[in-house]
Amino acid sequence: MIELTGVAASYGSVKAISDITLRVGEGEAVGLLGANGAGKSTTLRTISGLLKLTSGKITFMGQDLASLLPHQITELGIAHVPEGRQVFPEMTVHENLEIGSYAPRAKIDRARSLDLVYTIFPKLAERKDQLAGTMSGGEQQMLVVGRGLMLKPRLLMLDEPSLGLSPVMCDVTFEKIQEIHKMGTSILLVEQNVSRALSLVQRAYVLEGGKVIMHGQSQDLLNNPQVQAAYLGI
Ligand SMILES: Nc1ncnc2c1ncn2[C@@H]1O[C@H](COP(=O)(O)OP(=O)(O)OP(=O)(O)O)[C@@H](O)[C@H]1O
Ligand SMILES: [Mg+2]
Repeated sequence: MIELTGVAASYGSVKAISDITLRVGEGEAVGLLGANGAGKSTTLRTISGLLKLTSGKITFMGQDLASLLPHQITELGIAHVPEGRQVFPEMTVHENLEIGSYAPRAKIDRARSLDLVYTIFPKLAERKDQLAGTMSGGEQQMLVVGRGLMLKPRLLMLDEPSLGLSPVMCDVTFEKIQEIHKMGTSILLVEQNVSRALSLVQRAYVLEGGKVIMHGQSQDLLNNPQVQAAYLGI
């Protein structure tokens, strides 16, 4: 579905990623793991077109993304839920969700997508007229994932969805992601909660210093002594 080959990207003169090669197949859930500053968010931003790649290639369903603008990449069905739970605080939950379906491919199915999001996240239905800024952290996380779903994504990219959540909300978030994956959406999941992430995804890539240093099936990574020592505290 999506394939990155030798992708590099910079912020001005700061080289943030230098050699990212990875793929996510149709219907797959894949993890992107690594320590702070490894280049995980930058990889997602480069896929979304928010950051231009300086070398390498990204193709989505066979199409080269190099010349496309962010909104055109969105239109292809790539949803990016960035880190930090950015809701529009002065707008209601409902309005925040509607914004997620501004793209033409999503707009025509807005009502059906809303039903789906409210079914997956009943809490959002209950609170649909509440101002988003007054929702709890966990509720805001559900809202931004829901907003991503409003695009009817083929590929849903989630950047650290469990960060800062209580253990209970963290469980809920992972359950919901699993549910979304089971509906057939491909997922690229950035997580620092490595053990939880590996229990959800089938395969994962480990990034360090802007490069992929390891990749494999989740079970193999969980059993890998290097991964255990660096990320699992074993
Ligand atoms: N806006 C920016 N300007 C300059 N450098 C940046 C910017 N954003 C990120 N970087 C640098 O790019 C590198 C990769 O950052 P990135 O945010 O992709 O890491 P990350 O793996 O997502 O880390 P974290 O787990 O802390 O979110 C880091 O060295 C970081 O300092
Ligand atoms: Mg990040």
